[in-house]
Amino acid sequence: MSLMRTKPIDDVLIQSESDDGAGGDAAGSRRLRRRLGPFDLMGFGIGIVIGTGIFTLTGIEARDHAGPAVTISFALAGVASLLAALCYAELASSVPTAGSAYTYAYATMGELPAWIIGWDLVLEFALGAAVVARGWSGYLGKLLGLPTAWFGESSTVNLGAIAITLVLGAIATIGIRQSARVTNALVVVKIAICVFVVIAGLFFVKWAHLTPFVPPARHAGGGTSGLARPLSQAVFGIAPSAFGFAGVLTAAAVVFFAYTGFEAVANLGEETRRPARDLPLGLFGTLGISALLYVAVSLVLVGMVDYRKIDPGAPIASAFSAVGAGWAAVLVSIAAVAGLTSVILVDIVAIGRIGFAMARDGLLPPGIGAVHPKWGTPYRLTVAMTAFVALLAGFVPLSALADLVSIGTLFAFVIVSLAVPLLRRTRRDLERPFRVPLSPVVPVLSALACLYLMTNLSLATWLRFAIWLVAGMVVYLGYGRRHNRLARQERHAAVPAPRPASAPTGAPVSH
Ligand code: ALA
Repeated sequence: MSLMRTKPIDDVLIQSESDDGAGGDAAGSRRLRRRLGPFDLMGFGIGIVIGTGIFTLTGIEARDHAGPAVTISFALAGVASLLAALCYAELASSVPTAGSAYTYAYATMGELPAWIIGWDLVLEFALGAAVVARGWSGYLGKLLGLPTAWFGESSTVNLGAIAITLVLGAIATIGIRQSARVTNALVVVKIAICVFVVIAGLFFVKWAHLTPFVPPARHAGGGTSGLARPLSQAVFGIAPSAFGFAGVLTAAAVVFFAYTGFEAVANLGEETRRPARDLPLGLFGTLGISALLYVAVSLVLVGMVDYRKIDPGAPIASAFSAVGAGWAAVLVSIAAVAGLTSVILVDIVAIGRIGFAMARDGLLPPGIGAVHPKWGTPYRLTVAMTAFVALLAGFVPLSALADLVSIGTLFAFVIVSLAVPLLRRTRRDLERPFRVPLSPVVPVLSALACLYLMTNLSLATWLRFAIWLVAGMVVYLGYGRRHNRLARQERHAAVPAPRPASAPTGAPVSH
């Protein structure tokens, strides 16, 4: 069953520890440099997590599904993310590798599931970067009054999206420290503005807007049909609910998008100076700070404006304009642009690391994963993926595909959750600096929570995801299946050692 062959954990550990990565070939160094500390990891985490979600989804979900209780939806989505983060923390601290979910799957489930998850992660991060680059261009265009023909969502050639992708791709290529510095600066700006929104907004909160906190349930009405229906509705006949506790759950599934990305921290395992301690710190720090800000910002928003009157397009900026503080709207737009910039940068950094791990295993051509002798980054992959993202962002209207990012993330979370108890069974002895409490209960709950969230995504999203995975299978069967390192090792082991010339002739040696 070569498709299900697993990669020994010790191989993974040797590859990420040794200077030339055991088995490295002529393609240059196979080892990334350890240059990051816990604050860098949190910077990268918050850099990719806090993007548009909080600035857009809060308004729509409060108005249509949860009312003031959208705050509870953010807390619930935070809990689902925390369950997955616990699983990531155990695996990342015991097997600190650039491949994260891809490598954990290779070590526990087999080559094919690993390839599928690696391919899925490339989709998540590349598409995430491209979607956000187009959003970035639109925001900047509005902020500075630039022509929509070059900066709007409907532009044929989106110059803004191409430009920002190329600039950030260049930073990601020349170094992880440079990327960390830029990300940290952007993160400080967006956190400062979120804190400002909370403090300034508190002065305009009216208790009347917060009661009833959970508006009584009613039929969502309208609804969707065809491929726009959520899977849960198409298969189980469960219609989305408005308000009441069910409405809070519906909103939680949507605002989960705001937490996506924290798992990128696990991809920096090979570049972290003290991975055993710092990877869990980076993951939990990112989630803790993001959840706190999300709950606080959403609470202030629904306290400032009657949820029925929230502007779905720009809820926070409009809330300030409505109370006569229009200048705050400009600050919110600056936070959004800073937020989006760091999301794109960390996405590009993350794709480079996943592709690097896959190339090192021979599932992609090894030469493409070479590490630059001076910059210490997988520069060829980063340049290639930057070009791919720039093309996507520049020429394809992508906003309808944003849900693919969520389904890709959730799929990876399910795999990582299941990998925890699997690895506990196969490698009891492995040193685990962080352990998920109550395994297998917590990992199974985590997988179920993610599956529930996946069923809330539309049939169209499931269909597109399936098409992407089929394309991945074609690439695997055409290249990775034959060329990967484990397959080559097996072939070498199967070829008998050459006989000495003087040996008596016997059965012919097969080649
Ligand atoms: N979590 C990111 C956001 O909210 C993708 O934009």
